Amino acid sequence: MMSLRKALVAATVCSLAASGAAWCQTSPSETAPSSPPSVYKPTVGQSGKDVVWVPTSQALVDRMLDMVKLTPQDRLVDLGSGDGRMVITAAKRGATARGIEFNPDMVELSRQAAKAEGVSDRARFERADIFQSDFSDATVVTLFLLPDLNLRLRPTLLNMKPGTRVVSNTFMMDDWEPDESVQAVQGCGGHCSAHKWIVPAKVAGTWSLGDREMVLTQKFQKIEGSVRGKGGSAPITEGRIEGTRISFMVGNERYTGEINGTAMQGKTERGTPWRARLRQL
Ligand SMILES: C[S@@+](CC[C@H](N)C(=O)[O-])C[C@H]1O[C@@H](n2cnc3c(N)ncnc32)[C@H](O)[C@@H]1O
Repeated sequence: MMSLRKALVAATVCSLAASGAAWCQTSPSETAPSSPPSVYKPTVGQSGKDVVWVPTSQALVDRMLDMVKLTPQDRLVDLGSGDGRMVITAAKRGATARGIEFNPDMVELSRQAAKAEGVSDRARFERADIFQSDFSDATVVTLFLLPDLNLRLRPTLLNMKPGTRVVSNTFMMDDWEPDESVQAVQGCGGHCSAHKWIVPAKVAGTWSLGDREMVLTQKFQKIEGSVRGKGGSAPITEGRIEGTRISFMVGNERYTGEINGTAMQGKTERGTPWRARLRQL
């Protein structure tokens, strides 16, 4: 009998079905009827290192990539990439995509599927443990894991470059509230919700805002604080960060701007330019 790898390379055309597990079709001219190739067929619910394999429906894969507004400039990583559908779909949209998957058979299946779809150059698959892998260069992270695994990954995700988009099938990030959620997707049979987070820039600390002092506290993408000057103190309300964009109210005036490390600047809604510098963390 042919080895799995030979059978796959020589005679198998694999593709991803629109809404189910991966399927593979074998070319009859290449395979003797008496020795069918031993193509790996994953089973929904099969065990995995930290979580079983259940594929994201293709309808939700498409919706998740829409939610993060994937572009050809993005580098996507799917943590626990299963049969490779998220990575392959991202690569077909022009992005550079990487799957990290512990099960070596799923990795091989994904590589063959990427080859069959003509995106091997942009869709890479690694056999590795997501908790031992460096994916800090990714601009988009996709997940379909479990709440406790999301929570274990959360510190790593929050330390990624501000503006990195994270999107999870079904499961949340505990008290880090999503920036956007979709609750149901047409054409999806189960696990049909998705949640998106945008990694916020870190701004907690004491800032100089012109001749005033601005003190900010931060909980994920939400900020609170106060601005103190000669005329007294005013609370900061409705404070929010989206990647490197900041928006808050001082009294009844809205400030919006861009954060760049230890500096931020922008305009108030009346069009007055403002600038702040970090004095102390
Ligand atoms: C629920 S499936 C999701 C598959 C794929 N991301 C999708 O959305 O279709 C989770 C996958 O994570 C893999 N996995 C579990 N623990 C892992 C770990 N520690 N490192 C890498 N992969 C893991 C499983 O083998 C399985 O394929």
